[in-house]
Amino acid sequence: MCGIVGYVGPRSAATVVVEGLRRMEYRGYDSAGVAVVADGRISLRKKAGKLANLEAELAAEALPDSRQGLGHTRWATHGAPTDVNAHPHLSYNGRVALVHNGIIENHAALREELEADGVRFVSETDSEAAAHLLGRAVERNPSLLDAMREVCGRLQGAFTLVAFDLAQPGRIVAARRNSPLVVGVGQGEAFVASDVASFIGYTKEAIELGQDQVVEITADSVTALTFTGEPAVVRPYAIAWDLSAAEKGGYDWFMRKEIYEQPKAAADTLLGRIGPDGTLCLDEMRIDPAVLRLADKVIIVACGTAYHAGLIAKYAIEHWTRIPCEVEIASEFRYRDPIVTRTTIVVTISQSGETADTLMAIRHAREQQAPVVAICNTNGSSIPRESDAVLYTRAGPEIGVASTKGFTTQIIACYLLGLYLAQERGLKYGDEIRQIVAELSALPAQMEQVLAKLAEVGDLARELADAPSVLFIGRHVGYPVALEGALKLKEISYLHAEGFAAGELKHGPIALVEPGLPIFAVVPPQGRDQLHDKVISNIQEVRSRGARTIVLAEEGDVEAVPYADHVISLPVVSTLFQPLVAIIPLQFFACEIATLNGHDVDQPRNLAKSVTVE
Ligand code: M6R
Repeated sequence: MCGIVGYVGPRSAATVVVEGLRRMEYRGYDSAGVAVVADGRISLRKKAGKLANLEAELAAEALPDSRQGLGHTRWATHGAPTDVNAHPHLSYNGRVALVHNGIIENHAALREELEADGVRFVSETDSEAAAHLLGRAVERNPSLLDAMREVCGRLQGAFTLVAFDLAQPGRIVAARRNSPLVVGVGQGEAFVASDVASFIGYTKEAIELGQDQVVEITADSVTALTFTGEPAVVRPYAIAWDLSAAEKGGYDWFMRKEIYEQPKAAADTLLGRIGPDGTLCLDEMRIDPAVLRLADKVIIVACGTAYHAGLIAKYAIEHWTRIPCEVEIASEFRYRDPIVTRTTIVVTISQSGETADTLMAIRHAREQQAPVVAICNTNGSSIPRESDAVLYTRAGPEIGVASTKGFTTQIIACYLLGLYLAQERGLKYGDEIRQIVAELSALPAQMEQVLAKLAEVGDLARELADAPSVLFIGRHVGYPVALEGALKLKEISYLHAEGFAAGELKHGPIALVEPGLPIFAVVPPQGRDQLHDKVISNIQEVRSRGARTIVLAEEGDVEAVPYADHVISLPVVSTLFQPLVAIIPLQFFACEIATLNGHDVDQPRNLAKSVTVE
């Protein structure tokens, strides 16, 4: 949601900024803009719609050559996505250009105050107030950093701000509260951005800013302060991936590339976490083992796909540890006055590490003194920073809005955590853990087997491309897989899709079944699983009412075949691991349907990759 870039250095600022915005398109946006300083004036272009509109504007009327610039992709909150509401915003005195990510909650009061002082607003945005405040602050404060600190002191809500002052060329100032911001440090150049993807082509040296910090960059310096003016403690780090990870590499969509990256992402997430004797070593678990031993409840809090990963993890965590595990949608969590104590382990799952609902849930849990463990894919993002411990999924950058490798690696990380809890609490013998770990380690190869057969799913998608509605059913861990299969289809193909617990069908949803309705059914492993036969019965129930059944069942499951119009065969794995192979054809199906129907798979309408507002 909103992407921000600022640049100071020897290159063409407009080129670097627009390229940075392009690399953050995945975050979701509906207008874009760029501003540079050259020849003693600020030049600005901004346009509603996709970056292509801004680029057309720039082609028609190029910006002057400049060494300093900033840009923004806006996901509208206050004010429609129009040219005028697009960022950057200029201050009333023409000195400051500013971009903002987040929501300034007290913007109405600030607007009233500024208007009473004679300031005229030109947009409907909350952000414009910050531009005017900074314009006023730089008139009386010679330090850009101090002027920005003064502005931050006036703002309530969540914000990343990036700005420059025409009267202080060669400097860009930025601030962050509850919204992402990283600094990139190159040779004689510097960047600020919402995401390292925007500058990975130029430098791998990054600095993670903390909450409530301001930073000023010049071509050869980075100075960070807290909002209260003390030198800030920041964390320099090297970005672990390169430019190719942020490019499509021959695929039509990032989503498709990311589907195919799942075996590697799964293997990387396991790497180094399993000792030679099969025991788990989670070095990142900074929580005192005594706290893990005393825990009497686990609550998993997450949104969207990450929530579905949590629903799957619940089965494994309860099975292995016998600790009750609740799973809660993050946006609901703190508003229901949840029972959270020092002996509740709160596990948050987030690919981006910036989801505002999840971040607020963490803060609530920590206020109750509960230990918080984050499962996250984004190094140094807000969620791990604010948690007591973090287990990083190592999926690499996930750019498609529809989460794929994020999901499978989240399940793996949750399983590692569950097993670690069991290990620390002495609930599993070493050989039991080794057996489970061996199954986990076999998964990347099994995922490869599924990927090798996806052509059949492509054929199926061509047959079903016109279906107005698709249902997904499953039981046990197959139920969250059904929910996730439906979410994938909804978000990128805009089809009506629902996931149901197969056993619930007869309590209502079966009324939706009519001749020809496609229903995907996830069948648990046969023989070893008591639910196998129940799901087969559920498939018969819908098929006898005319549904077209697409059955995901393990290879050799002859009992499932007679009731299937299409069979998608899965490798033989234990029940708990089946989601990791069963979800892949469903992800691919959604990607194919969306492609066939001409949709933008990576940037579906109305959605943002990282949802940084509540
Ligand atoms: O970055 P997070 O994992 O916290 O994001 C949570 C959800 O917004 C995210 O999973 C969303 O549901 C995806 N678009 C699903 O594909």
